[in-house]
Amino acid sequence: MNSKIIIFDTTLRDGEQALQASLSVKQKLKIALSLEKAGIDIIEVGFPISSPGDFKSVQTISKNIKNSKICSLARCLNKDIDTAAEAMQLSNSFRIHIFLATSALHMEYKLKRNFNEIIDMAISSVKRALRYTDDVEFSCEDATRTTMDNLCRIVEKLIQSGVKTINIPDTVGYSIPNELSSIIHNLFKRVPNIDKSIISVHCHNDLGMAVGNSIAAIQAGARQIEGTINGIGERAGNTALEEIIMAIKVRKDILGLSTNIKHKEIYRTSQIVSQICNLSIPPNKAIVGKNAFAHSSGIHQDGVLKNRKNYEIIEPSSIGLKEVKLNLTSRSGRAAVKYHMTEMGYNENDYNIDELYKDFLKLADKKGQVFDYDLEALAFIKTQQGIEEYFSLSFFSVQSISNGLSTASVKLLCGGKTFIESATTKNGPIDAVYQALNRIADYPIILQKYQLVAKGKGRDALGQVDILVEYQKRKFHGIGLATDIIESSAQAMVSVLNNIWKINQVNKRLKILKKDK
Ligand code: KIV
Ligand code: ZN
Repeated sequence: MNSKIIIFDTTLRDGEQALQASLSVKQKLKIALSLEKAGIDIIEVGFPISSPGDFKSVQTISKNIKNSKICSLARCLNKDIDTAAEAMQLSNSFRIHIFLATSALHMEYKLKRNFNEIIDMAISSVKRALRYTDDVEFSCEDATRTTMDNLCRIVEKLIQSGVKTINIPDTVGYSIPNELSSIIHNLFKRVPNIDKSIISVHCHNDLGMAVGNSIAAIQAGARQIEGTINGIGERAGNTALEEIIMAIKVRKDILGLSTNIKHKEIYRTSQIVSQICNLSIPPNKAIVGKNAFAHSSGIHQDGVLKNRKNYEIIEPSSIGLKEVKLNLTSRSGRAAVKYHMTEMGYNENDYNIDELYKDFLKLADKKGQVFDYDLEALAFIKTQQGIEEYFSLSFFSVQSISNGLSTASVKLLCGGKTFIESATTKNGPIDAVYQALNRIADYPIILQKYQLVAKGKGRDALGQVDILVEYQKRKFHGIGLATDIIESSAQAMVSVLNNIWKINQVNKRLKILKKDK
């Protein structure tokens, strides 16, 4: 049996179905391009009959994607199938994915049809789709609650009529791994022409078992996995593709399988989907959560520093993640503090680790997470004495036009002197303020994270802005709090600029001290 697992992504169809607001054509194209770059074999791009917007998206993506196969969903209706084919006609090669429920429950209450009628509808739709492409996939919706006899019967007929991929969806996320494994085993045992098609599974996550079920299915012989990036989708979501892909890679010893995925693209793709769909990734989410490679306890940090393999089964760089995090919290040990100092370029003689660790624990208790620049500040507290806040915002004004340009003017006090600057940008008023401020400070900074949360309820709630900025490969964090979110954004940036200034001063003083020694 083939050892390659086909990865079928339905982020833009099943995933998008579950979003609060549907995505624009441009947003969907951006996701499709990133899925293509990641090496996804088949991208289900939409359900073209469902709306003119979806039709347009499928059409646009079909024109632009060259290396992944494009697929669209259709019910067992001629108009659905014809529309799907029309929307994808500009693609290099496409698949039509037809679905119809086969469980007794859906047949009786939803479709009001008996099983013979279901088979007839399915076969005549397959014939229609074969007019447009020889690549037809059929999903027996609610397959895991369909009797095995009926499932075997319809699968055999579908393969006879030319279906190349048979999908067994666990539509309501009801199955458990052993059970799905036995469904797939039974299909292989009982359907005489099963070798003429690929068996696929599409698992929902209502019982949190989508990934486990998919793995059980491939162990039983399924060769296509359907899912979404970050596991987004109807209700509790779908199989998280990044988890399946990494499970196949990391446990090759047991599974003996592989995919065509470019693993280093996983993190980037996950971030793009999260940002465009406006769905944040839980910190503890496997593979792509912000804590997936962050070690917090002192024992783990020490173990990781001695040999990563002690507590890491995946190399972060294998999914395209550059940074490995040893979070500095009150649970961190000396090893982690020392490691951060070394990473910043200090050697052990530059500071006193015992004193630094004592001060670090006090600060960590107060602050939660301690950043590199906090460590530097603690380590060189004496060196910093007398360094005041250098920057202070004395005035700002913004003008913003919907769908147009934003202009900001700022007045910044720098060591007592006033500087005025302005900037104009297409990226909104906050970006304009940030550009104007940094025209004055002139630091080569990269804004890595901007987060706005409301503190309190109602119209006078305070907006708290947290930003993370990279400056010379170091992270600087700033917070601003005000009822006006432009003001809180500006304050957050001013606090970052002050932190950078202080560290530069400390470093200058250290150099002088070293020279004097
Ligand atoms: O969950 C499901 O059954 C589906 C089908 C359309 C494949 O999404
Ligand atoms: Zn689904």
